[in-house]
Amino acid sequence: MIQVSLRGHKNIYDTRELTKLFDSEVEISEDPAQLAQEKNFVISRLEKDASGNDRAVVQGKIHGKIAEHQRTVKIPDKRLGSREQALAYDKHQREALRSCLFLVLRELTGKMPVWGIFTGIRPVKIVQNMLEASMSYEEIFQVLTEEKFLEKDKARLLIDIAKEERRLIYPLEQRAVNIYISIPFCPSRCYYCSFPSNDLYRKDGEVQQYLTKLIKELQASIKIINQKNIKVNTLYVGGGTPSILNRHQFEELFDVLQELEGYSRLKEITVEAGRPDTFSVEVLQCLKDYGVQRISLNPQTMNEETLVAIGRKHSPEQIHQAYDMIRRVGFESVNMDLIIGLPGETSHSLDHTLQEIAKLQPENLTVHTLAIKTNSYFKEHQDLLTLGEEGVLKMLDKVEDFTKEHDYTPYYMYRQKNMLGNFENVGYSKKGRESLYNMKIMSEKETILGFGAGAVSKVVNLKTDEVQRVPNIKGLGHYMDRIEEALEKKEEILEKF
Ligand SMILES: C[S@@+](CC[C@H](N)C(=O)[O-])C[C@H]1O[C@@H](n2cnc3c(N)ncnc32)[C@H](O)[C@@H]1O
Ligand code: SF4
Repeated sequence: MIQVSLRGHKNIYDTRELTKLFDSEVEISEDPAQLAQEKNFVISRLEKDASGNDRAVVQGKIHGKIAEHQRTVKIPDKRLGSREQALAYDKHQREALRSCLFLVLRELTGKMPVWGIFTGIRPVKIVQNMLEASMSYEEIFQVLTEEKFLEKDKARLLIDIAKEERRLIYPLEQRAVNIYISIPFCPSRCYYCSFPSNDLYRKDGEVQQYLTKLIKELQASIKIINQKNIKVNTLYVGGGTPSILNRHQFEELFDVLQELEGYSRLKEITVEAGRPDTFSVEVLQCLKDYGVQRISLNPQTMNEETLVAIGRKHSPEQIHQAYDMIRRVGFESVNMDLIIGLPGETSHSLDHTLQEIAKLQPENLTVHTLAIKTNSYFKEHQDLLTLGEEGVLKMLDKVEDFTKEHDYTPYYMYRQKNMLGNFENVGYSKKGRESLYNMKIMSEKETILGFGAGAVSKVVNLKTDEVQRVPNIKGLGHYMDRIEEALEKKEEILEKF
């Protein structure tokens, strides 16, 4: 456990997130008297130096070793307006404190977090902001590695992805949206997942009732989108497991979506068919007929024992059969999700999974690092998870070699809380097959309208670089009972377009 005492500032959140990279147990206190000096402790202070400038000073003592780092807070550009100056100053203060804290903890613990002082979920955004401030790629690399302390490979990954975003989703469009549709049902709950997926067989007819409400929400928005001539770029049906819908239900859904005036001009339509035990060739053909080009079929692993251990209830063989079916129907792109760090998996298990993936050659591969989610089975059974940070790192290196060998390049990435080893999730693609929807949602540079229970809309204002998060109600029953609220929220969002 590390105790941290804050003096002269109240950056509790920043301090906690950063300290957690070095020790899972952190106690933060704003009251110096509470600091038990015999324990491992750090004091993070903001004070005035001799010339009256603000200075961050961090001192620590861990296992008897002591260290101190300090940094003067940068003064913002005087040409900025007063609000911008205040915001920039606050940011510089926080950065100075974070850098000193990072350096002290790194020195005292010997740990080297690969993402340096970055704790957020979307580090590529920081690179985009630097590009917007006219910095060159060389300058950005230098700042990432020398001031933010990222490992060189991670800095390169961020820059490569920022370049892909520039190539594929720029110039940005203020008056365009993307549609996400949530189908929050799964045949059973996977042990690592905290997704509010509802047991499919819980109550007869519930899927149909849900679909009826969802369609109501969609119809109301489609009407406004058509009236206001708003451009829709991509469409994504996710979950949960959307492929639990039968052909008639998909027809019902897509008949409504086709009411979009720009339906035939959509740049991409994806439907998740994550579990191979949920769909038939008939359903796939129906999706193909509605112009769906991209299907996501997610093995997570190709090892039979692991699939049992994570509660997936399907075999690797079923993945192969489902994949063949998708190919026979003739979709342009298939995505496959994998998770690194599943219980009992070793480097050899990953070799097997990658060998099987190599036989299939999906256009997209999304590689997640296991995250211990609060409402998941694994949260309560962490003893099952035996792979340490080193093990995860070795496996991620293996994945990287595999992707290079098979001509995949990284094109989007994000991080999550409580990931094993604090690593990342990376989307890889064969050239020209990148999923635009994934890039748009991760970059937060184009508005997403989320439909259905728990779906989140993200409204982007390119002028201010602000993103307004507008969530729909999560619980299925509440969403259905209070559908009018979802309609009103969408009306409010679309009014501004
Ligand atoms: C919300 S799920 C939907 C996909 C689909 N229902 C399926 O299971 O095939 C999206 C992906 O996130 C990943 N995922 C979910 N929970 C995770 C966790 N705790 N740690 C790492 N990845 C996770 C899985 O790879 C999963 O396919
Ligand atoms: S991983 Fe997918 S199938 Fe499994 S519970 Fe989560 S959403 Fe459902």
